[in-house]
Amino acid sequence: MDKKRVFSGIQPTGNTHLGNYLGAIKNWVAKQEEKENFFCVVDLHSLTVPQDPAQLRYETRSMAAILLAAGLDPEKCTIFIQSHVTAHAEGCWLLNCITPLGWLQRMTQYKDKSAKQESVLTGLLDYPVLMAGDIIFYDAHEVPVGEDQKQHVELARDIAQRFNSLYEQEFFVIPEPVIPEVGARVMGLDDPTNKMSKSLADKRGHAVRILDEPKEILRSFKRAVTDSGNEIVFSDDPEKAGVNNLLGIYKATTGKSEADVLADFADARGYGDLKKGVAEVVIEMLTPIRERYEYLMQDPAELDRLLAVGAEQARSVSQPKVDEMKQIMGLVLPG
Ligand code: AMP
Ligand code: TRP
Repeated sequence: MDKKRVFSGIQPTGNTHLGNYLGAIKNWVAKQEEKENFFCVVDLHSLTVPQDPAQLRYETRSMAAILLAAGLDPEKCTIFIQSHVTAHAEGCWLLNCITPLGWLQRMTQYKDKSAKQESVLTGLLDYPVLMAGDIIFYDAHEVPVGEDQKQHVELARDIAQRFNSLYEQEFFVIPEPVIPEVGARVMGLDDPTNKMSKSLADKRGHAVRILDEPKEILRSFKRAVTDSGNEIVFSDDPEKAGVNNLLGIYKATTGKSEADVLADFADARGYGDLKKGVAEVVIEMLTPIRERYEYLMQDPAELDRLLAVGAEQARSVSQPKVDEMKQIMGLVLPG
């Protein structure tokens, strides 16, 4: 009877792209029948780098609309905005007080991001603790994410285990990252040695964004970096990273086997045909999502209503957990 619990999150800021869709959202939609799901638009995480308030407000609703347009069904999963459920920020403080600083300083995402910034906010360092709370306050067993988030989920396991051992009880469920076999690491079209990333999604030719028009999608693929040869093969050779990325996108989009993917391109006359073929399946996949998104965004009141229901469901799970944590740690609950 008891279904396994799933928790995952996505930041509302930046342009949601094909990597986000193939690495995360698509899999959330596919598995929503089997599990008890919580999907969160993590607006508090977005604040770890400076944001324009009006823009953040718009993008938070927009992200929720993208999730619904992609096929998440509010009857089958809880969809909510992180800041609407105060247990996340409250419980994060409690976790901060059992998390060694060194664990956070070792995170590769922190090292990469902080190296690129002149002034680093405390929130950026603390980001993975907030994320750990997201997961463990729901007793989630599984966390479906792209490859880049694996280290953060492992840290969530370490924090949960540390709490359990400090307070000598099996209080938190130890979560597992669930990384898809295909699509877990979609690379930039302009530079196939670096992952497709939201922060570069405005750069011409870097990403395909979920809400791009077909013409724009075709243009981005046509411009994709390949190599000077003409061999259409899956390959680990760094020289072939561009072609390998295009084939990987085609494979993740169609769900076909590698042999069937290669068969589809057996008659291709060069990389031009490959790029066109990949663009076609991606356009076919993304067009209905963009159309549903535009429809949903016309009725912000209905979106807000759905998100309020989601927040209530989320609160009913995480607030009692954080209250119990406070009790365990020696805080006196208000009488
Ligand atoms: P974010 O854009 O950081 O909010 O990430 C949302 C989800 O998309 C996370 O599960 C990431 O692991 C996943 N993701 C982000 N970039 C990529 C990428 N280039 N390829 C595959 N998955 C990705
Ligand atoms: N840090 C994740 C990312 O950028 C987003 C996220 C926040 C998340 N909280 C989470 C993912 C909890 C999974 C579970 O992709």
